[in-house]
Amino acid sequence: MLRNDQLAAWDRDNFFHASTHLAQHARGETPTRIISGGDGVFIEDRDGTRLLDAFAGLYCVNVGYGRREIADAIADQARELAYYHSYVGHGTEASVTLAKMILDRAPPNMSKVYFGQSGSDANETNVKLIWYYNNILGRPEKKKIISRWRGYHGSGLMTGSMTGLVLFHNKFDLPLNSVLHTTAPYYYRRENPDLSEEAFSAHCAQELEALIAREGADTIAAFIAEPVLGTGGIVPPPEGYWAAIQDVLRRHDILLIADEVVTGFGRLGSMFGSLHYGLKPDLITIAKGLTSAYAPLSGSIVSERMWQVLEQGTEENGPIGHGWTYSAHPICAAAGVANLKLIDQLGLVDNAKTVGAYFNAAMKDALGNHRHVGDIRGEGLLCAVELVNDVAQRTPFDPALKIGPQVAAAMLSKGVIARAMPQGDILGFAPPLCITEREVDQVVDTTRVAICDIFD
Ligand SMILES: Cc1ncc(COP(=O)(O)O)c(C=O)c1O
Repeated sequence: MLRNDQLAAWDRDNFFHASTHLAQHARGETPTRIISGGDGVFIEDRDGTRLLDAFAGLYCVNVGYGRREIADAIADQARELAYYHSYVGHGTEASVTLAKMILDRAPPNMSKVYFGQSGSDANETNVKLIWYYNNILGRPEKKKIISRWRGYHGSGLMTGSMTGLVLFHNKFDLPLNSVLHTTAPYYYRRENPDLSEEAFSAHCAQELEALIAREGADTIAAFIAEPVLGTGGIVPPPEGYWAAIQDVLRRHDILLIADEVVTGFGRLGSMFGSLHYGLKPDLITIAKGLTSAYAPLSGSIVSERMWQVLEQGTEENGPIGHGWTYSAHPICAAAGVANLKLIDQLGLVDNAKTVGAYFNAAMKDALGNHRHVGDIRGEGLLCAVELVNDVAQRTPFDPALKIGPQVAAAMLSKGVIARAMPQGDILGFAPPLCITEREVDQVVDTTRVAICDIFD
């Protein structure tokens, strides 16, 4: 077996890491952590350190680590048939079964699933389908996509543009000009502190409507949003938000893409965020929880309304010119089938609801009165703790102090992984859906101790 220092040297010399400070890493100023194993909510690195992963990788290992049922399904599929494509009507038992299982769980009026590999490529697919749809309907001008500041939809060209975080735009010549951004439904950071949640939701809807009016509704194709803002700070919608937004979209004939890459398959304590909040999407993006990240697989769930037009398009123009080599990859589909069965067998959607409520309540009990904790918010097994300099004024810390990353590092040294979210001093929590109340206690206690260590 290779020595850890040898691997660390190879890593610095050869490996281009995602979302990493490249220069610091190359100089060896950021650690190389080689993960070697995992079971349940725990992972282990090559130094033998065991860590409770309270972010489930990148909020994706929903059934927890080390599930033999999924590993066996992957191995069996690889032995039987490692690959066949999905072009021109081809499929495998695993991919056809998984499409059926997804539609059985999806909101009403959804019709078909197109499979990709990542959340980013699924959202690229969604944009292409929407452009195709409006061309078939004879509306070639209706093409712009509106997303929200702080939304996260991937890091491709269109998806990085739709992502509303400047780190993903700067120096990449993004956003592309067919993408517009509107107000984030971030009640804690509202400009007018006197607004109620309902009034703030109405304000967000007015801002959206004003943007549509400025651009012209006949140029706007779709609105893309996560049911709960994720990477942008884990922000559940304020009261009345989704009803107000959907009313605007309906009146201007603008499609809704519900990006459920994080919220799909149980994270909020419901099978889908759309069901949780009463969304009626035209497209749903799924990834992460579809296989619990045991294999890379994503999907675009297409509504019946859109499907009818896509069919009409192929009658007029021939086969749809869209496809990836690895669409509906059988090994990934087999992982998806085993994963969705496991979610049902273990009752993980209900666990996310009950243990999620326990998690959020325990975090508020432990830290709600701390002088540097401005907001604790969450839904199901999502939770965020926002750290501020001054609670009364909601004044943030100087970003150069890197308070969020400091607390996350202190927690890591005590055996718990939380995520320092990329914009703001926000600690994010999204553990595997199988987490127990005892494990939650460990996460909450470690958060409290780390915050006290930094500030007191
Ligand atoms: C809501 C949402 N959409 C899309 C993506 C992009 O998925 P991927 O990283 O698999 O491309 C993510 C990733 O975190 C996400 O959170």
